[in-house]
Amino acid sequence: MLPTFVRATPDGTEKGDYLALDLGGTNFRVLHVRVVEEQQKVLKMDSQICAIPQEIMLGPGEQLFDHIAACLSEFLDSQNLKGKTLPLGFTFSFPCEQKDIDKSILIRWTKGFNCSGVEGEDVVRLLREALSPSQDYDIGSVAMVNDTVGTMMSCGYRDQSCEIGMIIGTGTNACYMEEIKNVKRVEGEDGRMCINTEWGGFGDDGSLRDVQTEFDLTVDRNSLNPGVHTFEKMISGMYLGEVVRLVLVKLTEDKLLFDGQVSDALLTPDRFETRFISEIEEEDGGLQNAQDILTALGVSCGPVDSHLVRLVCDTVSSRSARLCAAALATVANRIRLNRRLDHLKTTVGVDGTVYKKHPNFSEELQATVRLLAPGCDITFLVSEDGSGKGAAMVTAVAQRLALQSRLLEDSDGEVDDEEEEEEEEEEED
Ligand code: BGC
Repeated sequence: MLPTFVRATPDGTEKGDYLALDLGGTNFRVLHVRVVEEQQKVLKMDSQICAIPQEIMLGPGEQLFDHIAACLSEFLDSQNLKGKTLPLGFTFSFPCEQKDIDKSILIRWTKGFNCSGVEGEDVVRLLREALSPSQDYDIGSVAMVNDTVGTMMSCGYRDQSCEIGMIIGTGTNACYMEEIKNVKRVEGEDGRMCINTEWGGFGDDGSLRDVQTEFDLTVDRNSLNPGVHTFEKMISGMYLGEVVRLVLVKLTEDKLLFDGQVSDALLTPDRFETRFISEIEEEDGGLQNAQDILTALGVSCGPVDSHLVRLVCDTVSSRSARLCAAALATVANRIRLNRRLDHLKTTVGVDGTVYKKHPNFSEELQATVRLLAPGCDITFLVSEDGSGKGAAMVTAVAQRLALQSRLLEDSDGEVDDEEEEEEEEEEED
């Protein structure tokens, strides 16, 4: 439950040019984004992708930020943007304690990253330090954004009732608009603030122990971050394939699959990729896919085996969809109760490969949410490139709010002056 310092969703009047950085998976992206008010559209003008090799994902933090700086510098060169100072939105999809919109301390790495010297540090400072030696780009204002927030904000430009952002991809997480009076770490009584729930960390206090299986415990033990992000390890794309692989190995050892013969490939961690689950669950051709995939993994997969493998995939992906739905229903109900409503109509902006690519994940999730949150009528809006465009949107909204509050101060000043003059005239009378 981390305050994000995002105090408003878009109202459709935002506009301007922005730079967006996006780090959260095995790629880093730089984008030049234009927000066009008349069309209420966020346009991607251009972008560049830089792969993050595994040695950088696991190496010193300095090396990671130098890599980011080099990629950014190359992009600015290619776009003739050097010398310009565009506001920058940085989507950094890891749990951060935000002190302000431009001060964000990394709590811990997730999703296969483990760069030394970054946890406990301000990510904006590390970025500025990496960029300063070259001196050819001066980053001006920076807004730090979680990908869930970017997703909510980019969908929010299209649908202004979007107040929840959800990601089910390599990792999982959600954010939502909370009443500021309930946000203990931030002063103020009026208005709202977006809260990054970091629901992937649900269960780290042992509260999910009853529903964790032996397979979940093994996945956790063998992960880069044992003991943390428990919920994420039962749900997200980084882990689902591995959960399925462990179940298949167990069924084979129990002589229920593949004539009881495991292969080296099947015994190798992470060899069963999460995308295989989607391929095997496809309505047409899924059973054939199962046979092809398992044969390529070196086991002898007959027709009955294919059905059983598909059942395992279905069980693991359905569990993921339902756990996500339980969390989402809780968040939606929270918003409903905050507003003392019997019925809440709201929109969730969603992104992530598991949600988008799996053949029936979204359907199962939505059906379960309807069951668990009957008082909430939820529209699901799939985000197109929320973490890139959303970062620009957060920056644009922050600028609009700053401008509005300046205008308000100025007009207050005028009113005060007029009042003073009137009072003076009355005294003279
Ligand atoms: C991170 C979140 C992020 C999510 C989805 C999780 O591992 O902790 O900050 O939003 O992945 O990318």
